[in-house]
Amino acid sequence: MMEWTREERYQTLESFPEEAYEALLEKTAASPYRQTFHIQPQTGLLNDPNGFAYFNGQYHLFYQWFPLGPVHGLKYWFHTVSEDLVTFKDVGIAIRPDTPFDSHGAYSGSGIVVDDTLKLIYTGNHRTSTWERVSYQMMASLDKDGTITKSNEPIIDSIPEGFTSHFRDPKVWYEEGIYYMVIGAQRTDETGTIAVYQSQDMNNWSYVSELKTEYKDFGYMWECPDYFKLDQTDVLLFCPQGIDKYNDAFWNIYQSGYVLGKLDQSTFEMQHGPFKELDNGFDFYAPQTTLDKDGNRILIGWMGLPDTGYPTDKEGWAHCLTLPRVLTVENNQLRQRPLPALQKLRGTVETAEGYATKKNVKLHPYEGFQYELIVDVLENDSTEFYIELRVSKKESTMITYNRAERRVTLDRFDSGLQPEGVDGYRRSVVLDEDLSQLHIFVDTSSIEIFLNDGEKVMTSRIFTSKEARGIRTSTESGQVYFKFTKYDLNGNPQS
Ligand code: FRU
Repeated sequence: MMEWTREERYQTLESFPEEAYEALLEKTAASPYRQTFHIQPQTGLLNDPNGFAYFNGQYHLFYQWFPLGPVHGLKYWFHTVSEDLVTFKDVGIAIRPDTPFDSHGAYSGSGIVVDDTLKLIYTGNHRTSTWERVSYQMMASLDKDGTITKSNEPIIDSIPEGFTSHFRDPKVWYEEGIYYMVIGAQRTDETGTIAVYQSQDMNNWSYVSELKTEYKDFGYMWECPDYFKLDQTDVLLFCPQGIDKYNDAFWNIYQSGYVLGKLDQSTFEMQHGPFKELDNGFDFYAPQTTLDKDGNRILIGWMGLPDTGYPTDKEGWAHCLTLPRVLTVENNQLRQRPLPALQKLRGTVETAEGYATKKNVKLHPYEGFQYELIVDVLENDSTEFYIELRVSKKESTMITYNRAERRVTLDRFDSGLQPEGVDGYRRSVVLDEDLSQLHIFVDTSSIEIFLNDGEKVMTSRIFTSKEARGIRTSTESGQVYFKFTKYDLNGNPQS
């Protein structure tokens, strides 16, 4: 991972020489790993999605951005807009870290429409001269004409008793005349939790209590909470740090998951089921949700993780966001499906049906670099089958399905350049139902696999060579009858 001095990390874009920035833009644009239908930064590092909301006839999606390199430095909010959540337009910087309260970063937060404005509620990160962390909750307003005005003072300027200064990522919602806010927090005994605030007017906030889950000692910090009702179920998302791996679960450095249950809004106690990961791949963190204009709950995550080095670091940039997913709760289970409007990206379609057997078969003329692939498993008598994507002489990104265990494994050992600081080369998940469909989106340097119509999702970056275009199938023993439907994708989401 890259070593940057503190001075380098906390440089402002405004003080950075213009020619040097031009050079960064060119260096990033020349990267062979630039995505074609995912949101990515024009230079530097992108992390969490922020302020996601439908306002004034458009979707607004912001992200955490350090413009000057692939490190977690001084964070800005970068603004994108979209008509359909498929194609996004870059607007520019929305929030600059330019006050004493956010001098060391305009950290993550959410958006909520209040009258004629979109309120952006975020964490101001400040460091004292002795580098102690101070956290303020801040507000900015986006007007209908596009002007963004920051409030001069924090809306929450202190931390209640019992918490450390790891106190950030406000998510605000409105219910029956009251605004509520959940904040990711750390107790003074160094366990993670969520703090709840409420307000009548968005300006004056009072601390209510912790959001009490059954997890009293579950990691040392919870980042990026999100809470919403979905059908009859209450859904709480959060990102606990410091959870040990267990069987196939929790292999990434930090986790991003959810519990389903019932939140009592008078006591803020939640009865809930077990914490489950939102994604079972290598690269997913800090998601955020909003309602689309038809009332669907849409989730977008960061396709990356903290404290991990990526091959594009050398090219001066890092990360992208995931595709939007539609969330539902069906039979008490959360399902995540790709946004139906993504079909707009579809170009030429090719279909094929056939048996995969022990012999390794390359599918012809099946190949590609950026595409959507739907694999229907019509009959399966194999012990284990393999679908390999982005295959070249030396490379392959392999999906394995073991029928007896109902276990899907994504193996990126041969996927080309590897991220640094990642535990292992495989991620696995056990399905509730036999695997009947894989719905896969492959972009230049990523793969998102939706299993069984949104039962599970596996999202990962992959950094293969230009030659890695093949698709191959085979089995360990026995045979599988597949139907393949492949669409070329005509993406270019940012313009
Ligand atoms: C999560 C996170 C947030 C914080 C932001 C800073 O990735 O650490 O907790 O607000 O990133 O960029």
